Amino acid sequence: MRAYFVLRPAIWRDQCRSAKLTAESSFDLPVRYREPRYKSESNETMQADDKKRNAAKAALNYIEGDTVLGVGTGTTVNQLIDLLPGVRDRIHAVVSSSTATTARLEELGFEVSLLNEVGDIDLYIDGADEANKHLQLIKGGGGALTREKVLAGAARKFVCIIDDSKLVGMLGTFPLPIEVIPMAQSFVARKLAKMRGQPVWREKFVTDNGNHILDVHNLVISNPMEMETRINQLPGVLTVGIFAHRPADVLIIGDESGVRITGK
Ligand code: 5RP
Repeated sequence: MRAYFVLRPAIWRDQCRSAKLTAESSFDLPVRYREPRYKSESNETMQADDKKRNAAKAALNYIEGDTVLGVGTGTTVNQLIDLLPGVRDRIHAVVSSSTATTARLEELGFEVSLLNEVGDIDLYIDGADEANKHLQLIKGGGGALTREKVLAGAARKFVCIIDDSKLVGMLGTFPLPIEVIPMAQSFVARKLAKMRGQPVWREKFVTDNGNHILDVHNLVISNPMEMETRINQLPGVLTVGIFAHRPADVLIIGDESGVRITGK
């Protein structure tokens, strides 16, 4: 048994038990299969969809004439994509953050350009798993965080669209996604455990870049910029899902009655 198993807190032990892991298992990590979200057609789901749609609709106002548009990934962004045919004449080129988004855009007749072809992008629109009042985000619930971070970095303006359940006082209730190269995942997990997080391997999930995701539970992210830098520096980490060095410029929060907008 490795040292970090001995030192881990009770919650970590519980995760290992519930995942029926032994210390001999190949990755030495609790595992989790991520169920696709929003499978059920419950009232709650429908309300969440309405809120996401409200945010997505409001984001259309940021698409001006001749825009090179970056498109994120996830259920909120899917609402936006469904609306894009209505503003097709304002879009000069579109760049995608994932194979899933590319497929959806192509279904609607958009030709998807590569970032390398278009240079910087005018506007990037994406969702988030959590957002704070400084417009810092946790992203990567859908596993597309690396390409999302690249597009956010290349964008003159980053508009983030969320429903009101995603707004938090302090980031970190949502388990922090980290994309790691597969051979380093146990090493990175031990480092994260030393930082008092409980990393869980997102089993049966491979990113568009051929890598794995660790979802880190119970990490205290009181200083998002510092934590982003610290985790980014671990060898084997490709991208951490904290977007603090490049936060959103505008946050559109959808609720039952419409939207609230912060930032500029
Ligand atoms: C994908 C992401 C998504 O933006 C995030 O997970 C939010 O998704 P949804 O809109 O489905 O709640 O970061 O990697």
